[in-house]
Amino acid sequence: MQVKSSGIEDRIEIKPFLKWAGGKRWLIAKYPSLFPDQFGTYYEPFLGSGAIFFHLQPKRSVLADLNGELIQAYGAIKDDWQQVVKHLTVHHKNHSSEYYYQVRQQKTLNPYTSAAKLIYLNKTCWNGLYRVNLKGEFNVPIGTKSRVVHEDDCYDEIAKLLGNAELLNSDFEVVIDKSQKGDFLFVDPPYTVRHNYNGFVKYNEHLFAWEDQIRLKEALVRAEKRGVKFLMTNACHESLKVLYANDFEMKSVERSSVISGTNVGRGNYEELLIQSGLNFKISGFLK
Ligand SMILES: C[S@@+](CC[C@H](N)C(=O)[O-])C[C@H]1O[C@@H](n2cnc3c(N)ncnc32)[C@H](O)[C@@H]1O
Repeated sequence: MQVKSSGIEDRIEIKPFLKWAGGKRWLIAKYPSLFPDQFGTYYEPFLGSGAIFFHLQPKRSVLADLNGELIQAYGAIKDDWQQVVKHLTVHHKNHSSEYYYQVRQQKTLNPYTSAAKLIYLNKTCWNGLYRVNLKGEFNVPIGTKSRVVHEDDCYDEIAKLLGNAELLNSDFEVVIDKSQKGDFLFVDPPYTVRHNYNGFVKYNEHLFAWEDQIRLKEALVRAEKRGVKFLMTNACHESLKVLYANDFEMKSVERSSVISGTNVGRGNYEELLIQSGLNFKISGFLK
């Protein structure tokens, strides 16, 4: 995490405290003008590392994810970030291969130790990515990074920002259905496409199925009717283009991916942007 003046309305730049599969820092870096300046409440129903939330720093927000440990970690920082940092500092001092595997298999009941465990494993695990098996167990091996706390960490600023956020451990549908006229949704689901599951779909013990993509589209159609603006990122795949073609404007953009930790998974990919109530006022779109 890094704090520096962004020059925009005296905002400081806050980097996400986690690295997450499908994180959207690249989108902000490439297309900063894509996001609206003014809106009611900000909604992020697939929060992950919250890259867009930390960039926009909204006055009011509803942040949600189906991953309970993730939402609990945000909650712990919001309630008492110093407790979390205290436990993180212990992990930082003790980090070794043996210690990593010991912590990985420990059950934690306290929200602050649980948050610190999640952040510690996220920072030191292989490729820095959170993955659990179908039993919900984190099973990623140790990686090459050993720094857990950094001088420019800004958990105090993160806690302040989260002070205005409602945190929900929930499926996306009820969250989107809460949004009202003038609100803005940033929607970044797992990239399931019809007929096959690609490598992005399993973030937790639940799979994101094609039926969920249909459910999501229907929730967005309802939101649009209420006057809600949204921007969605999704897989640039024919099945999704067909699913959204009659209802919303869409464009594809190029991104580079480093998701798999091997060169096989690195390269340039297209992603789909779908929106309502915004202007695609950026150049550089492929279509
Ligand atoms: C692509 S990631 C979001 C990445 C995020 N935009 C970022 O910058 O890090 C998708 C997230 O959706 C969550 N998720 C999966 N299924 C869900 C569901 N049915 N409802 C809500 N969240 C879900 C996953 O736990 C994961 O954190």
